[in-house]
Amino acid sequence: MKTLCVKGEKGVSRIHVGEKLVNVEKYLPHGKIVIITDETVKKYYYSDFPDCPVIIIGQGEENKTLDTCKKIYKELIRLEVDRETFILGIGGGIVCDITGFIASTYMRGLKFGFVSTTLLSQVDASVGGKNGVNFDSYKNMVGLFCQPEFVICDISLLNTLPEKEISNGFAEIIKHALITDAAMFDLLEKNFQKALKLDPETILYLVTESVRIKAAVVQKDEKEAGERRKLNFGHTIGHAMEKITNPGHGRAVSMGMVAASLFSCEKGFITEEKCRKISDLLEKFDLPVNFDMDSRIIMENMQKDKKRAGDRIYFVFLSDIGRCRVDLITIDELEDFMIHL
Ligand SMILES: NC(=O)c1ccc[n+]([C@@H]2O[C@H](COP(=O)([O-])OP(=O)(O)OC[C@H]3O[C@@H](n4cnc5c(N)ncnc54)[C@H](O)[C@@H]3O)[C@@H](O)[C@H]2O)c1
Ligand SMILES: [Zn+2]
Repeated sequence: MKTLCVKGEKGVSRIHVGEKLVNVEKYLPHGKIVIITDETVKKYYYSDFPDCPVIIIGQGEENKTLDTCKKIYKELIRLEVDRETFILGIGGGIVCDITGFIASTYMRGLKFGFVSTTLLSQVDASVGGKNGVNFDSYKNMVGLFCQPEFVICDISLLNTLPEKEISNGFAEIIKHALITDAAMFDLLEKNFQKALKLDPETILYLVTESVRIKAAVVQKDEKEAGERRKLNFGHTIGHAMEKITNPGHGRAVSMGMVAASLFSCEKGFITEEKCRKISDLLEKFDLPVNFDMDSRIIMENMQKDKKRAGDRIYFVFLSDIGRCRVDLITIDELEDFMIHL
């Protein structure tokens, strides 16, 4: 097991990669605990949960809403949850995002932690302290920064994940390699079969490295005023695509990364050959690299991106495989690229 830390404004978050769900009690404080999870995770792993009340939320982005939060707040009141209560989220990115938001807002903030059960949430969603929910058609529009006390990334839980969810997670791992770590990109190219088969040694390495990369970026810029923006590589266009066809977060990010790589190539930052290498790797991980969507509709959805700054937007380009740059570009320039894509 490896423990990595994120030192946030309000405390340290410890991420235990390779720890087991059954050991979660070691990390819980004495006193009342309430668990938030979803039906699928409960179905597979309830027998390993600590003995305490469990709140179940619905699955899918359409449940990551203030309406769901309202139901949970009511349930917390019914359970007489007070400021000493600890909230434990056991699940994927949706459970973690909602748990963090609920715990940080109920009674002005309770302590919370996660057992992260999807590859995507282990390498990304549960790390870094961003919590929030969707609002109308705006993704993650309402939320706050607040670090969990701990995150457990139990890689054995990934064995029950559907293949599609595994590849969703690999999209974020590939993103981390693309923006900061060329050696990890090479390793992914060479070991994709082992990785897809969830070979424990390979997965443990990839989850640990991904958490290390994300934790280091967040450490430098918890509130996303600069450095943290680079984690949005592939997300500006990807989020817009996610809203249109709802293919799953990682799959949308895969298409977004292909588009952002092509844009980087058009700007002369990377070669066509490197663009091809990126698409080839994404395809090896069963991720989509082609998209047949109307650019105007993608643009309409991008107008709702919260990373906009007036008529400009922070866009993450690759300057090489393993290196990126964040430029403030005009929406018009982005539109011009999209129209000709
Ligand atoms: N806060 C952040 O920094 C951050 C970063 C990246 C993504 N996100 C958010 O994360 C969300 C996506 O997360 P996700 O991909 O984990 O989706 P998810 O939470 O919807 O999980 C995907 C599916 O897998 C099921 N599942 C979970 N664990 C399982 C297991 N061990 N075995 C079998 N099935 C299991 C879930 O029930 C669900 O049906 C999006 O809402 C995205 O915005 C947040
Ligand atoms: Zn993402």
